[in-house]
Amino acid sequence: MASTAERGTWGSKAGFILAAAGSAVGLGNIWGFPTQVGQGGGAVFVLVYLLCVLLICLPIMMAELMIGRHAQLAPVGSYAAIRPNTRWWLVGLLGVLAGAGILSFYSVIAGWSVAYIWFAGTGAVTGDAEAVGAFFSDFTANGPLSVGLTLVVLGATATVLLGGVQSGIERVTKLMMPALIALLLVLAVRATTLPGAAEGLAYYLRPDFSRLLDPMVLLAALGQAFFSLSLGMGAMLTYGSYLSKRSSIVSAACWVVLLDTSMALLAGFIIFPSGFSIAGFDPSASGPGLIFTVLPRLFATLPGGQLFGAGFFVLLTMAALTSTISLLEVPVAHFIDVHRWPRRRAVLLVTTAVFLIAIPSALGNGAVATLGTLPGLGIDFLTVMATVWNEFALPIGGLLTAVFVGWIWRADQAITEVQLHGTAFPGQHVWSFLIRWVCPAAIAVIIGFAVYTVASA
Ligand code: PHE
Repeated sequence: MASTAERGTWGSKAGFILAAAGSAVGLGNIWGFPTQVGQGGGAVFVLVYLLCVLLICLPIMMAELMIGRHAQLAPVGSYAAIRPNTRWWLVGLLGVLAGAGILSFYSVIAGWSVAYIWFAGTGAVTGDAEAVGAFFSDFTANGPLSVGLTLVVLGATATVLLGGVQSGIERVTKLMMPALIALLLVLAVRATTLPGAAEGLAYYLRPDFSRLLDPMVLLAALGQAFFSLSLGMGAMLTYGSYLSKRSSIVSAACWVVLLDTSMALLAGFIIFPSGFSIAGFDPSASGPGLIFTVLPRLFATLPGGQLFGAGFFVLLTMAALTSTISLLEVPVAHFIDVHRWPRRRAVLLVTTAVFLIAIPSALGNGAVATLGTLPGLGIDFLTVMATVWNEFALPIGGLLTAVFVGWIWRADQAITEVQLHGTAFPGQHVWSFLIRWVCPAAIAVIIGFAVYTVASA
């Protein structure tokens, strides 16, 4: 096994929180959350999302940090170290696969963000809703360009990872996070004061309770919460393995969840008011292009809009990079810890493999035409990937993590890890109840309910 010195640790507790928040905050907040709210019917989705975050994801975030810090290894190694000679390491392997699978479509969208730095900065995206929408479709229809941009994102991610954990991730996040928050606040103020913003706010904040028990809304909200918080695939577990034994796992987890959730909510306060200020806007019809069609029009209403726009996409790209770094780090750390590969070889081989899986997502609608003859594949490959990994793999990974910590390793043992060096664990009984009963049951019921509904439709 690699020694601590080879693996690296965080410079400080603040460094860890920055890095974990850097993993959590990304396209999931600014691109994914508004898109899912639009498809899930507005405020009711927001409500379910918040419940999932608080009752399911926060306890699982703590659980992942506990496993990682206890075992000081990447997911597969950690499960194997805590329960040797069992099959629990397979949960870690699921995470390694999910990391590669998510990164494969995530890097395509991050590539769009890179291109929009240029488009927004040069004022290339202008005109009415239709023109801005057409611009996005034309742009994404250019397969080779998308593939190239994906390669740029993966290349940048690999470069950071070659430099090791601490120096790369902490430094980028420290600069990016405050700037991103400030810019989002400015945009939210502008968006909510636009004519027509009230309608958008009502859509975002006033729930239509008739959809509360729609299994598809529940599953989408659960998947989105896992995706946004980087849970269920061992990213937080891996980051926890670099966490010092003296830091408080509970407060670290609370900070990350608070930061991530505020950023997602803030993105909603930007997208919906500005979307609804455009005549004929339909949030459910926009799909993955939502923010790329709404935001350019918002920038146009600001003085110095081109500069704002370019700045926004620079920050979005940086936020995406601190997430792609954590996605790639899971499979990379796996090969370093378990197969003892040198970091360099692990980074290069995993990145190449992810790039190959990313190509069909990057080819987008062009690929649908080719795959169109396959039964049932009416949607683009990117959406298929996002659904499989976010809505199924991550919640299932989370369920298994909860069962492992609550019942196999056992909640009381895990609590001992938190309390090392006399660190307090306020609410340990609540946590133990949630991780043993609420998390597994809620996830199983939501997935079961959704699968049943689709199967019987
Ligand atoms: N949480 C990241 C985001 O919101 C994506 C991510 C998912 C990163 C899973 C790591 C693991 O953009």
